[in-house]
Amino acid sequence: MSYSYKSVISETLYGRIFLAEEEKTGKRIAVKISDRKLADRRVCRYGTKVEECIKNEIRILEFINHHRDHKYSYHVIKLLKHWTHGKYYYMAMEHCDTELFKYIKKCRGGLDVPTAFYLFRQIIHGVDFMHKINVFHLDISSENILVSKDGTIKFCDFGLAMIIKTTDKMLKDVKWRRGKIMYMPPEAINGESYDPRAKDIFSCAVTFLISLTSRHCFEVAHSADKRFKIIVSGGLEKLLKAWGFLHKVPPIAISLLDGMLSYYPTRWKMDKIVKIVDSDEWNAIASQSSLYKIEKENDHQN
Ligand SMILES: Nc1ncnc2c1ncn2[C@@H]1O[C@H](COP(=O)(O)OP(=O)(O)OP(=O)(O)O)[C@@H](O)[C@H]1O
Ligand SMILES: [Mg+2]
Repeated sequence: MSYSYKSVISETLYGRIFLAEEEKTGKRIAVKISDRKLADRRVCRYGTKVEECIKNEIRILEFINHHRDHKYSYHVIKLLKHWTHGKYYYMAMEHCDTELFKYIKKCRGGLDVPTAFYLFRQIIHGVDFMHKINVFHLDISSENILVSKDGTIKFCDFGLAMIIKTTDKMLKDVKWRRGKIMYMPPEAINGESYDPRAKDIFSCAVTFLISLTSRHCFEVAHSADKRFKIIVSGGLEKLLKAWGFLHKVPPIAISLLDGMLSYYPTRWKMDKIVKIVDSDEWNAIASQSSLYKIEKENDHQN
């Protein structure tokens, strides 16, 4: 299959992501191109060789492709093909219209509440699917979640992800302290061993808060961070009140977020979170989103 390259979607540290078209079908795809020499020589900020991250991403996306019969597997970007040519590694993937971070920024003051609920439910379904097949993303952030025009969420960037067979394994090694600092749970910040499931859950909560408020509610999940300290001592409601954001976060989301942001091991587990986002109360809010209406129209047409 040959491709024609249209434009650059994003510059990455060791290459670029291109928007391309399959010449035969005209289908849009995204191609991640990484410089082999740079990848071989450099280590990323977590101490892992960049080349390892690229190979790891391919291995994990191929693994996920073997589980495409799962109901929610479409929440992970599909790897279509990968190859090396000359100086570069190539990964051809499904294309998605934008990333959640940019999507949020377009709506000043955060997404409307129903849309934030609608998208967050998909984020949870996606992470629940990954965890069920023992995949842990470990770098969940609003930049690594993509959104298509019809409002479908897809996870990308599996460079730091891991497949861990024994799900109760705790991670301790420094090189496993991965992900962006603003999305890291306290146990990872403090250099303690952490549960990979609980780390992904904490990062999802931070992402949801950003969706609702369009800002980082705290810099780092540590007692030295004033805002995080308020959440720990008085609950999220106290911080939102002080900030004038209480109206943006309905009570069901406040209790869910308090549960997801709490210290390990009292942090809520995935089963409980899934029940909340699948509840009638959640749906009553999510179904007010214009994206939900698009989904229903599409269902009707198919
Ligand atoms: N399949 C895709 N469709 C559309 N956009 C994509 C796709 N994959 C990645 N992107 C865009 O490119 C950005 C970088 O991709 P990715 O996160 O996979 O690379 P990265 O190596 O982590 O780069 P960075 O250092 O910028 O995080 C994403 O945040 C997203 O905006
Ligand atoms: Mg990324």
